[in-house]
Amino acid sequence: MKMDEQIRSMREQIEAAAAAITDSREMHQLRKQYLDNKTGLISALMKNMRDLSPEERPAFGKIVNELKTWALEFFTAQDARLKAAELAAKNASEQIDVTMPASAHCCGALHPNTLIANELIDIFAGMGFTVFEGPEIENDYYNFTALNTPKDHPARDMQDTFYVSPELLLRTQTSAGQIRVMENTKPPIKILSPGKVFRSDDDATHSPMFSQMEGLVVDKGITLCDLQGMLDVFAARVFGEGVRTRLRPSYFPFTEPSVEVDVSCFSCGGKGCRLCKDTGWIEVLGAGMVNRKVLENCGIDPDVYTGFAFGMGIERIAMLKYGIPNIKMLFESDVRVLTQFRG
Ligand code: DAH
Repeated sequence: MKMDEQIRSMREQIEAAAAAITDSREMHQLRKQYLDNKTGLISALMKNMRDLSPEERPAFGKIVNELKTWALEFFTAQDARLKAAELAAKNASEQIDVTMPASAHCCGALHPNTLIANELIDIFAGMGFTVFEGPEIENDYYNFTALNTPKDHPARDMQDTFYVSPELLLRTQTSAGQIRVMENTKPPIKILSPGKVFRSDDDATHSPMFSQMEGLVVDKGITLCDLQGMLDVFAARVFGEGVRTRLRPSYFPFTEPSVEVDVSCFSCGGKGCRLCKDTGWIEVLGAGMVNRKVLENCGIDPDVYTGFAFGMGIERIAMLKYGIPNIKMLFESDVRVLTQFRG
């Protein structure tokens, strides 16, 4: 029968078209093309019934219905097959290999100067010191004159100075901060003043810009013994238990008496080695009792109050503690050096 053939060929068409499809959305379109209630090709077959004789209609209706039932099952199976394949492909593409090595996160580290400055602040804060930071561009008065170093004083030669104008300069020492604090604060005073300083100086152990940490204590009855007591705590904490200090006479215009402070060699324990140049001692800072004239310049009565001050180079402490041979290594930002200080 002609109708039979038409039905069989439609079934073959559906199977052939479906075989070429790999996408569930395309399959849905194909399904609509045949099974859509209004426009579907199978629904259209039903409409052909009108052209048949009443005797032919039941048989025709049956085979069209069979085709429709078959097609419904066929497309449901096709849809399931394609969706399963698509899900499998999606899962495969999103798979995470938990054994893959993680990408390295480069995290920064504190600069050795910052480590030392923080350590010093920590030590002295524990002894009651607070931090004061003065300006990097300073008046000649605060950097020199008020520190008992007037314009014609030969001690100015000790620090080769960068002048901004006849009265303004890049501070050569954090000692300038002492004056700013004493001018504005009544004793008791106990401050620590960290910061950058500048001198026209450049070799393996000197840099035109470097960092200092200043300390100042002013109160009634302060003596050189108080200075050495505090420095002993500092030396043991920074360089290791058992490290002692030694005071040697020296000269600074703003202290009287003035001392250089050595620590016993933490590398050889005092026996003598390359680091201490066989002396058993390493020079680490300058200090002294605040000169009466300096106290007077700040309106503090030197017959009532006494004080001590000290100043140390942060880079020098870092170089000694970490065995850094050249100060330039602290300014070159070479990560091979800096990563060694990751905490
Ligand atoms: N300001 C001195 C320098 O830069 C270091 C120093 C020495 C600071 C003695 C002081 C001190 O406070 O009392 O070389």
